[in-house]
Amino acid sequence: MNSDDPDWWRGAAIYQVYPRSFADGNGDGMGDLAGVRSRLPYLAALGVDAVWFTPWYPSPMADGGYDVADYRGVDPRFGDLAEAEGLIEDALAVGIRTIIDVVPNHISDQHEWFRSALAAGPGSPERDRFWFRDGRGPGGEQAPNGWVSEFGGPAWSRVTGPDGEPEQWYLHLFAPGQPDLNWHHPDVVTEHEEVLRFWFDRGAGGIRIDSAALLAKDPSLPDVTEPTAPGQHPYVDREELQEIYRAWRKVAESYGPDRVLIGELWLPDAERFARYLRPGVLHSAFNFDFMTAPWTAADLRPSISNTLELHDGVGAPATWVLSNHDVTRPVTRYGRTETGFAFERKRFGVPTDPALGRRRARAAALLAMALPGAYYLYQGEELGLPEADIPRDRIDDPMHARSGGVDPGRDGCRVPLPWSGAEPPYGFSPAGVETWLPQPPDWAALTVAAQEADPGSMLALYRAALALRARRPELGASGPDAAFAWTELGPDVIAFRRGARFVSVTNFGDAPVDLAAGDLAGWTALLASAPTEGGLLPADTTVWLTVH
Ligand code: NOJ
Repeated sequence: MNSDDPDWWRGAAIYQVYPRSFADGNGDGMGDLAGVRSRLPYLAALGVDAVWFTPWYPSPMADGGYDVADYRGVDPRFGDLAEAEGLIEDALAVGIRTIIDVVPNHISDQHEWFRSALAAGPGSPERDRFWFRDGRGPGGEQAPNGWVSEFGGPAWSRVTGPDGEPEQWYLHLFAPGQPDLNWHHPDVVTEHEEVLRFWFDRGAGGIRIDSAALLAKDPSLPDVTEPTAPGQHPYVDREELQEIYRAWRKVAESYGPDRVLIGELWLPDAERFARYLRPGVLHSAFNFDFMTAPWTAADLRPSISNTLELHDGVGAPATWVLSNHDVTRPVTRYGRTETGFAFERKRFGVPTDPALGRRRARAAALLAMALPGAYYLYQGEELGLPEADIPRDRIDDPMHARSGGVDPGRDGCRVPLPWSGAEPPYGFSPAGVETWLPQPPDWAALTVAAQEADPGSMLALYRAALALRARRPELGASGPDAAFAWTELGPDVIAFRRGARFVSVTNFGDAPVDLAAGDLAGWTALLASAPTEGGLLPADTTVWLTVH
């Protein structure tokens, strides 16, 4: 990547760091920014262009830091503001931009705004920054409406007044420790534009926008009794959001064309999704359709073609994502009978075939990295970490408790990274230190050190693929050399050309695909996710081919 390129984000490889679990610099069993700084050479060697950090702000950690108590600080567990500034600078010095996570839908119940709203009482201007309402029923003992939290259970909690009596209710689309902000309030609007400036002033290259489709609410807070027309839901994907993000875009552009806004938009309707990527709104958004699709050509091919079509229509680059800190790790998911991802299907003890899952995850990575647009990878994906089983009494994620203990929660993909050694803490923390989430006892072969010594490892594959992706003009960025065109090799194969000299072929079927047949005769392999023998591409394998 050319570090001066204002379009860097169009084809970037962006690595997601979950700071709590990346590397522990102070030996307390929890990751921190000093740990990340010490591992920047690892990220540079991996070949990523930017790092997106999940929230590092001061937080009671009711939802892993997505409950922000102060948007302008760093949680003491992770370091301090000077450490964050140093990290952004050090990363830039090795060619890596920083993307900050901004959480505009809600704040922590420990944020000064919410504390003063509680103290100020019903009807106060301080409460207007949130959604406080009286309860229904004679004593106000029923929630103001029937909205359900994204984590399960009611989306309302009742507060207690200074006299110890139950008082008003407040809205929280997530955990009770995450009160929703009222985006009709001018303070909320102004504050967020200032927060964007605060981090852009400190060198941030981009902002990831949490829960980006949920901020705007219908102030009459109606119940949702039947399916709503696009844009008509009381709190999902409302029209007002377009104006909010147009204003954010102006803030970003005032720092230059290379500062970007990336939306976390879970919207099943592709047309509605694309509206956020029109010129003047957001630069980019995560491709959850691709991320959650089952491992079949019949599912992934339309996902790819629809993605490309809808992004082309608005002039935005596509993104390709296989995992993040909210979803089941790919090697575990792809080894199951049901290979698609859905939050509502998460259960304990779903069987998986680890060897099959690993093989498919390797093939998926090459497939995704060859597509036009940006590639997002989540820490540990490059090590092929499986979803870990966390003992119930160590589960921290509120999704587990709020589901009544049915959903294992998201901690299985948030386990501290294994760096070296034969047993926990695998170099994440000093020997003998207990990590905040337990690491499995059988991860010795998955450490960075073990994989660096093994040319057949997942890490070796990711390094080779990212290096090729950065070097070849057809991959990564879009442009005249990077045209995309499908190549037909049958219903179980996804094959496409990039430019005149590059082809990616993935075989989803059981029967090997003859690469010497058809118009690929004479092409040679650049990289494959599994050995190809005699010009045959085995099941669940991707190969990158070139013609000289
Ligand atoms: C999306 C984040 O990725 C997730 O981890 C979080 O729980 C919710 N937004 C609420 O902030």
